[in-house]
Amino acid sequence: MNFWHEKLRIGTLEVPRFIGGPVDGVTDSPFRQVMRQYCAESLLFSEITHANYLAHTKKAVRALEFCQSERPLIFQLSANTSDNLEVAVKLILEAGVDAIDLNIGCPARNVIGSGSGSALMADPDRLEEILKKLRQLVPVPLTVKMRAGFKRKNALDIARLVYNCGVNAIFLHPRLQTQKHSGTMDYELVREIKKMIPIPVILSGGIVDWQSAQAARAATGADGYLVSRGIIGQPWKLRELNQLSRGQEFHIDSTQRLNSSLEHFDNLTTYYGEHGIPAFRKHVPYYLKGIEGACDARKQIMETLCPHKVTSVLKEYLGP
Ligand SMILES: Cc1cc2nc3c(=O)[nH]c(=O)nc-3n(C[C@H](O)[C@H](O)[C@H](O)COP(=O)(O)O)c2cc1C
Repeated sequence: MNFWHEKLRIGTLEVPRFIGGPVDGVTDSPFRQVMRQYCAESLLFSEITHANYLAHTKKAVRALEFCQSERPLIFQLSANTSDNLEVAVKLILEAGVDAIDLNIGCPARNVIGSGSGSALMADPDRLEEILKKLRQLVPVPLTVKMRAGFKRKNALDIARLVYNCGVNAIFLHPRLQTQKHSGTMDYELVREIKKMIPIPVILSGGIVDWQSAQAARAATGADGYLVSRGIIGQPWKLRELNQLSRGQEFHIDSTQRLNSSLEHFDNLTTYYGEHGIPAFRKHVPYYLKGIEGACDARKQIMETLCPHKVTSVLKEYLGP
């Protein structure tokens, strides 16, 4: 059977090999709802949410407010201790998810400052304590999203530890914390981890189209491919990759482009109220990329707080 026709198995979950990655501030519920229009089966990631925040916030936590139609959904947690995991996992499971991921790859200063994210790759004892606790609490598939290492490469040791804790799959962004989101990726690391442990290894990094996906598969042999920045402003990206990888044609026309941007904007204002208007601004350059008059359209949307103005500019510039 063709590799791309076969589903990827993550514990009990069976999903297409292209997965929608987490991008903080972008892959929220309003955006995932638009993505879901294009890919009924693909696994989508939530953004990162700290376990302590889930456990201690008295008011409703935004990250837990999503639609069941967004599933299959993998909820991403960060943690620096096992203390609050019981409450956090209970809330996540009550919200209804298909898998839970522990982030041990985030390089951001505010995340590593508290000892979570990629800082956990430099603290294997604490990581083991957190993962053992999570494995006891999480009945759905449990995954880890990691890097090549924190300041130095230790992904092989961490992958073995993670596997021994009962994790069902590894998402690997093969860069060090110090590289943040650019610079050379260590593709060989994917092969080495795959050789060492029998759970799926999913590559994260640099997948933007079918060509880059084919190159990444040839270089790494990874079991699955996470698409993060490549989905910004292109909620159809997973359908594009799923279809092209199965030898089917893919085309997105200007009406679909326009309708997706309008639906995204509408979802944002429904979800965030008036804050949905400024929240849409960061997506605008991506939707308008390559469009004639993009600069002028962008300026008009950036300067307004009127929802009708936003939709009329989108229709004028993106419409057929
Ligand atoms: C602005 C931004 C926000 C991100 N937010 C998250 C996040 O919340 N959780 C996470 O695991 N990774 C996060 N990432 C990392 C991506 O998911 C991904 O691993 C990385 O960007 C490499 O993949 P790409 O080239 O497909 O973007 C973020 C990356 C960027 C640039």
